[in-house]
Amino acid sequence: MISIRARTAGSFRRALHSLRNPGLLQTQGFINGQWVTGASQFTVLNPATGQELAQVACMTDLNVESAIDAATQAFTTYKHTTARMRSDFLYRLYQLMTENAEDLARILTLENGKTLVDARGEVAYAASFYKWFAEEAPRMYGDTIPSANGDNRILTMRQPVGVVGILTPWNFPQAMFARKVAAALAAGCTSVIKPDSEVPLSALAFARLVEEAGIPPGVVNVVPVSHERTPAAGKIICEHPDVRKVSFTGSTPVGALLMAQSAGTVKKVSMELGGNAPFIVFDDADIDAAVAGAIGSKFRQSGQTCVCANRLYIQEGIYEEFAKKFTQAVEKLKLGNGLDPDVSHGPLIHTRAVKKVQEHIADAVAKQGTVLTGGSGVPELGANFFQLTVVRDATADMKVALEETFGPLAALFKFKTEEEAVRLANATEFGLAGYLFSRDYARVFRVGEALEVGMVGANTGAISESALPFGGVKASGLGREGSKYGIDDYTVVKSIVIGGINQR
Ligand code: SIN
Repeated sequence: MISIRARTAGSFRRALHSLRNPGLLQTQGFINGQWVTGASQFTVLNPATGQELAQVACMTDLNVESAIDAATQAFTTYKHTTARMRSDFLYRLYQLMTENAEDLARILTLENGKTLVDARGEVAYAASFYKWFAEEAPRMYGDTIPSANGDNRILTMRQPVGVVGILTPWNFPQAMFARKVAAALAAGCTSVIKPDSEVPLSALAFARLVEEAGIPPGVVNVVPVSHERTPAAGKIICEHPDVRKVSFTGSTPVGALLMAQSAGTVKKVSMELGGNAPFIVFDDADIDAAVAGAIGSKFRQSGQTCVCANRLYIQEGIYEEFAKKFTQAVEKLKLGNGLDPDVSHGPLIHTRAVKKVQEHIADAVAKQGTVLTGGSGVPELGANFFQLTVVRDATADMKVALEETFGPLAALFKFKTEEEAVRLANATEFGLAGYLFSRDYARVFRVGEALEVGMVGANTGAISESALPFGGVKASGLGREGSKYGIDDYTVVKSIVIGGINQR
């Protein structure tokens, strides 16, 4: 494979000069330990300025297939590495991410738009998965099981599933593949990562660290492809017989399509899909804590996470007070370019995201909702900026109740009773995260158990960490990432029945 330098845009060259480790800025695919150019390039934009950041090599179908071949070949030896050796690779990745954290955060802000504070947080979050799975790798235990046959013994062991296809979104350019590839590496799997076309630079910077960590060629491959070529690359990965598992984070319709494409080869799948998180505040809650929790959960990364609060249900006795305090707190936040240290919230990823927020607000206003703050774009900052917005008197027939906005719109709904809150919260096809604030711990258990979601934040709006089993129910997906369960999806249980025990 030939390796050539892709054209670098002016802002990319400037970014290159501001990094301590310029080797992290890569614009080519990473296949079998080589930097690879495709037949064409695609443009990565800085969402804060709209300017071109870099031209990145777009991997062809043949490149994607050769990445799968490389991973298949590498699996023949990587699966025999000791758990301790895999743990050492993971620990080395953790160290390298920590040493390069500032550069990785800068790249992340440039391509995703989130503030540097958030980007540093994401790099630390991503790094924590390498550390976590460095600790999990040596603990892939099996069982001994009593047999119905007195002459037999049953043993189980967990073996790596094989080559894993990893398909990730733009909202967490480092962390979303981290919790997949770290588990894969720990289990003894090899992988092909296809990052989102909006944010390939973070994944390519990670590939550089994979090289530095001395991980053998082919164990981790990264195949950037353009937006237009994404469906074809996804199809190759899902339909390829040598790929034994697909792990995807993204929307529910795309997840369902990838599951259908994976069905023909009967792959394991993990799907971390859309959410529509309820955030319930009861009359007995600590209102200031609930306001802080709602700000953190709703406006994390300008509302662009799958676990962001989407529907804020406030009990009638505290509705007015909550609405007032929440709006005041939102008005203190500052929009702008994520590189500016005074800025608390950056732009949305692209104008399609802005359009969706505008549609949800227009729909809410047409159905008698009132905008308490925000409500419009901020053209003087750039086309992707949208004000942090609060709408009161939201109702169940509004778009914001039915779909995830994935943007900075907080809709306040009023409810009377606990039963009503649970019924409204569960009235969605989605079930990723849910939140509740109450000082009554019997209620915390009752409501926590009744919410049809995979994860509940009780008296907190911040739930994500490597120890959390991350994942949803209903249309929000299958499988759990991170935690002691996260490695399971990357392994298969092998049983060995040993006979003739009583024969001397
Ligand atoms: C997501 O938005 O998909 C993930 C958010 C998180 O890990 O906290």
